[in-house]
Amino acid sequence: MKFSYVNPTLIQFGQQQIASLTDLIAKDQKVLVVYGGGSIKKNGVYDQVAAALEGFDWVEFSGVGANPTIEVLDQAVKICKEQDIDFVLGVGGGSVIDGVKYIAASAVYDGEGWDIPTGKHIITSALPIGAILTLPATGSESNQNSVVSKEATKQKLPFASPEVLPKFAIMDPDVMKTLPQRQLVNGLVDAWVHTCEQYLTFPETALVQEGYAEALLRTLKTLGDNFENQDDAWRANLMWAANQALNGLIGSGVSQDWATHMIGHELTAAYGVDHARSLAIVQPSLLRNQFAVKKAKLEQMGKNVFGLAQSDDLAEQTIQAIEAFYHSLDVATVLTEHGDDKAAAIDNIIGKLEAHGMLALGENQAITLKESREILEQAV
Ligand code: NZQ
Ligand code: ZN
Repeated sequence: MKFSYVNPTLIQFGQQQIASLTDLIAKDQKVLVVYGGGSIKKNGVYDQVAAALEGFDWVEFSGVGANPTIEVLDQAVKICKEQDIDFVLGVGGGSVIDGVKYIAASAVYDGEGWDIPTGKHIITSALPIGAILTLPATGSESNQNSVVSKEATKQKLPFASPEVLPKFAIMDPDVMKTLPQRQLVNGLVDAWVHTCEQYLTFPETALVQEGYAEALLRTLKTLGDNFENQDDAWRANLMWAANQALNGLIGSGVSQDWATHMIGHELTAAYGVDHARSLAIVQPSLLRNQFAVKKAKLEQMGKNVFGLAQSDDLAEQTIQAIEAFYHSLDVATVLTEHGDDKAAAIDNIIGKLEAHGMLALGENQAITLKESREILEQAV
């Protein structure tokens, strides 16, 4: 096992923590507050942020939608450049926080912002950013990752850089009280698949990472099973589990897959499928497609997460248990549940994967375009 790991994001976790914002940004910084379509105006989060920023020099930018587009984000980049913004604060879910990472990196770059996700520009600096999380799902509040879209070409691409790690993340579980059920389910499923992407490969010798991944999966399963009994503890546990699922720790020094995400991103970009729901379509089919190489780890997950007994078909039973978990949350696991024109859709997705160089995905780089096509064809 060999790895480098650092996660310097200060976490302010718990009820009423938004007030601590006052002490987290230097008073001489000019702040751009970025948020989404307005949920924070309705649930009191905006008012809490405004109260904490009293006395600061701050301006705001709203309208960052789900699956944020550079067409919208570039308007905020312009504000940063024109108004000499020193600090960018994202108040929202993964889309807003991912968007803030793009804004912060693009604000100090003179070229086209799209150069960032395409890799033409390697990020060497960015404005400092902070995050106030309103939707637990992506872990974006304390990780290096971002996913942005280009509406004009219907592309959705990830990028990552330590320069865009938030300086702090404020996580008050009370903000989840206004989340629609659909978004809560999305968050749970996204966190679940993040854990799987870093765990469901082959047996490792990393007892800490594997054991912690299993603890997170058991936690998320318990929360899903108790979806109707949400209380303060339920919300706090989901918020923390989703953060821990993708803050870099469980993936350190172990093999990772991420093919489900790369194929899922194309489904979202082309057809607007919610991020988490795209994953639930791809993952079970992908696990069956890669069954031989993932069998041992599936068996380990079956025993340690679902409590299944050893048997000849334990690995397949584990995949069925994953599907049953999604179905229990009313999440579809097949393409046909999202529309009829399946053959054309698959051709379209394969074309996009090819254009984006997604030619050898998965922990063994064994998922070529041929396997990606099979995975989509089998997701029916
Ligand atoms: O825009 P507003 O009005 O705020 O409404 C949002 C949005 O419509 C609403 N919402 C958020 N908090 C709320 C709330 N509504 C009521 N009460 C609240 N407290 O929820 C809707 C969805 O928000 P969004 O930020 O899009 O959801 P999520 O956090 O699931 O983020 C998804 C995005 O993150 C990317 C995805 O690809 C997608 O673009 N990902 C980012 C990752 C990362 N940075 O590490 C990893 C993930 O795998 C993922 O790819
Ligand atoms: Zn995800």
